[in-house]
Amino acid sequence: MSSTSSAVRAVDCATSTAGASPELFKAGMRQIASTVSIITTVLDGRRSGLTATAVCSVCADPPTLLVCVNQDSGTFAALREAGVFCVNVLASAHADAAMRFSDGALKGEQKFEGDSWITSAGGLPVLEGALASFECRTVSLTEVGTHGLFLAQVSDVTVTGGAHPLLYFNRALAGLQMQE
Ligand SMILES: Cc1cc2nc3c(=O)[nH]c(=O)nc-3n(C[C@H](O)[C@H](O)[C@H](O)COP(=O)(O)O)c2cc1C
Repeated sequence: MSSTSSAVRAVDCATSTAGASPELFKAGMRQIASTVSIITTVLDGRRSGLTATAVCSVCADPPTLLVCVNQDSGTFAALREAGVFCVNVLASAHADAAMRFSDGALKGEQKFEGDSWITSAGGLPVLEGALASFECRTVSLTEVGTHGLFLAQVSDVTVTGGAHPLLYFNRALAGLQMQE
């Protein structure tokens, strides 16, 4: 992680007294419809990224996001080392991109083929047509079980809007149907 970031904190889950099984937890979580984002970063000139639903607003002042990434993912180390990333919120037209960035067989630059990406002034990959893109700088990283929780301050936001969001519900991608 960049020298401006705080130290990594680890939460000891071995002593957890949580009662629900991981399977029951996941069954419940499948009933939550989530927006879908692609988290991108760049480290030593190499782009990487992954599809993520675990993106949460923390507060607006200062603008702060929380992003949760599996420590086994190929992108995790790059996110930790780079200390900066971009959260690209997907529109319903981005289902193919969501599948590509969640495909464990594809690595690095391969995932960026097939979509239109620009490089922000801060050097981060920004997806053209994303509903919004949040450029972030990590301020703390906390390890909880399998995941790393990146708390990050938002340095810039590109808002495009104008399209329906891509959603993930019960293991499937879907476009949002607006009520008439
Ligand atoms: C809809 C969807 C949402 C996902 N959300 C997350 C997430 O929030 N955090 C995470 O670590 N992985 C998430 N994943 C899984 C990663 O995208 C997947 O493991 C990916 O292969 C990781 O790529 P990498 O190993 O190249 O980094 C999600 C996958 C899908 C299809």
